[in-house]
Amino acid sequence: MKVQTKSKKVNKAWLNSHVNDPYVKAAQKDGYRARAAYKLKEIDEQLKLIRPGATVVDLGCAPGAWSQYVRRCLSPNGAAVGALNGRIISLDLLPMEPIEGVQYIQGDFREEPVLAQLQEALGGGKADVVVSDMAPNLSGNGTTDAARIALLVELAVDFSIHHMKPEGALVVKLFHGGAYDDLVALFRQTFKVVKPIKPKSSRDKSSETFLVGMGLK
Ligand SMILES: C[S@@+](CC[C@H](N)C(=O)[O-])C[C@H]1O[C@@H](n2cnc3c(N)ncnc32)[C@H](O)[C@@H]1O
Repeated sequence: MKVQTKSKKVNKAWLNSHVNDPYVKAAQKDGYRARAAYKLKEIDEQLKLIRPGATVVDLGCAPGAWSQYVRRCLSPNGAAVGALNGRIISLDLLPMEPIEGVQYIQGDFREEPVLAQLQEALGGGKADVVVSDMAPNLSGNGTTDAARIALLVELAVDFSIHHMKPEGALVVKLFHGGAYDDLVALFRQTFKVVKPIKPKSSRDKSSETFLVGMGLK
């Protein structure tokens, strides 16, 4: 008799909930590479951050669902291809299938030469919106993982201070627990308006949440 291990049960449960997830189905129907698109969509529809003509920097962009969403926002008729009114510069450690009109940089956001590449892509201009869905590979050690997550958020805040327009907005993913309170405090020090948002499309079970900072102080 085959003994079913706990991890197999967990995988099966995950697979079932994934297959039946309305956002997974919607992503397939709408042509998004990941259900993550709906998290940014919800945040954007609430706060109206991405406007025609905007320059948007997408940090941790792979496989590309957020960039696809931004691309459609900047299309005169919401199309996934064709004319684009604005700029999208996207960055990830991992390779990403091209998205028409999106300038993609492969590299580690924590490294100086990669930051220099981003800076060069901005061509002396500044971003209207910076979005970061970056999440580090977790080690399982709570303290180490919290520090890795915090570092990515802190670097995104620092990037916004130097490369975002004063009236711009930064969206970051972070997690409850760990350094959450310190990161909210950093946002309050840096931005005029700070909004914590847990989109409906972010799974209830996940401690994942988002912070939006609007207007640099
Ligand atoms: C949840 S995924 C992003 C999904 C993406 N927003 C989308 O809609 O398709 C997180 C991404 O962050 C990237 N990432 C993590 N640490 C990074 C770093 N230091 N520099 C660049 N990308 C990083 C990972 O490679 C991963 O692709």
